[in-house]
Amino acid sequence: MKTTKINSKKYPIYLGNNNFVLLKKKIKHFCPKAKKIAIIYDNGVPIKLLNKLKNKINNYNIIKIKVRPTEKNKSLSLAKSILDKLIIKNFSRSDLIISVGGGIVGDIAGFIASIFKRGINFINIPTTLLAQVDSAIGGKTGINSPQGKNLIGSFYNPKFVLIDTNFLLSLPQKQMICGYAEILKHAIIKDKIFFNWLKTNSKDIIFKKKMKKVNYAIKKSCLIKLSFVDRDFKESSLRMKLNFGHTFAHAIESYDRYLQKYNHGEAVLIGMVIATKVSNHLKICNDDTLNNIIEIYKKNSLINYVNKFKDFKNLNNLIKFMKNDKKNYNEKISLILLKDIGKTTIPGRYIFSTDKIRNILKNLNN
Ligand SMILES: NC(=O)c1ccc[n+]([C@@H]2O[C@H](COP(=O)([O-])OP(=O)(O)OC[C@H]3O[C@@H](n4cnc5c(N)ncnc54)[C@H](O)[C@@H]3O)[C@@H](O)[C@H]2O)c1
Repeated sequence: MKTTKINSKKYPIYLGNNNFVLLKKKIKHFCPKAKKIAIIYDNGVPIKLLNKLKNKINNYNIIKIKVRPTEKNKSLSLAKSILDKLIIKNFSRSDLIISVGGGIVGDIAGFIASIFKRGINFINIPTTLLAQVDSAIGGKTGINSPQGKNLIGSFYNPKFVLIDTNFLLSLPQKQMICGYAEILKHAIIKDKIFFNWLKTNSKDIIFKKKMKKVNYAIKKSCLIKLSFVDRDFKESSLRMKLNFGHTFAHAIESYDRYLQKYNHGEAVLIGMVIATKVSNHLKICNDDTLNNIIEIYKKNSLINYVNKFKDFKNLNNLIKFMKNDKKNYNEKISLILLKDIGKTTIPGRYIFSTDKIRNILKNLNN
């Protein structure tokens, strides 16, 4: 498959398979003074692919740093231990950090890159579907604190992102669903035609990994995400639309103590249903819109997630965590709701007290 270049305002994204051949040339172009490279990599990435990648850049002085990607490990103490290694190895700002991994490794590596000597060159090579369609795009980096997810972080762009779909061949189905949740979110909030395409093609993406379709979905998804982040990098307003379903999802994840039962994508799938049901309850979207969303879950064997929503019927516990969401103001809960497929409410338009949201959630139909 030919490599496609997707241009964001700030950096290019190269999308294809077997595209490591580009690495050497692009590093030379974007980081001409680099001599040392730290590859911060996810221990779930197939070693064969990692070695193939390393061999393409063996003219540099390389150190490899392995990370076990857990939310607990996405911490200040891990960041510090990696920063110490870079200092001991005498890395300079013109050297380079490459992240090879899923969203956890990408978030930590990007964060380290942003604070090491006030910013060292950074390249992101995302290896999960979620990282390829979402977390590697948009410049958000971060680590967790005991008080919650991603509470410490920065906005920092890579020199470029290299998406190689070969990484997805070894990715477990649960992780494919996780990335798919964000692809579906992008379609729901911005693009009805893409949503309709997903209706008939999702199984080929999630379960069969048909690469031509996976490639198309990644490209569409990146373009949709970029259309928000390029216009509102620091998330002052427009970018918040990407949080559709996420206030509920983050609360589910926090309640669940960082992914014991639900991973991020599963929580997003549940969160989007809750957000659409709230929209429907408040008559912001009609029954057709809600049914259209339920239909795509049914058609693609995701209906279990709608049913899991019932686990949260006692939603009082979730509300406690929703209040902690970074995006809220004055203890009130701000929600992005859905008007129609492809169209959300304006950020800041729907802000609820906890009593109000408790009341709405209590009265939702199953
Ligand atoms: N920065 C952002 O804008 C942003 C956006 C969304 C999510 N996130 C963050 O992303 C994280 C979730 O990322 P994720 O879903 O990629 O999960 P993850 O990083 O935990 O990776 C999931 C699992 O897949 C394994 N893995 C990675 N690549 C593989 C491959 N090629 N083959 C087989 N296994 C592989 C990992 O070892 C891990 O076990 C969360 O911490 C979330 O907060 C960040």
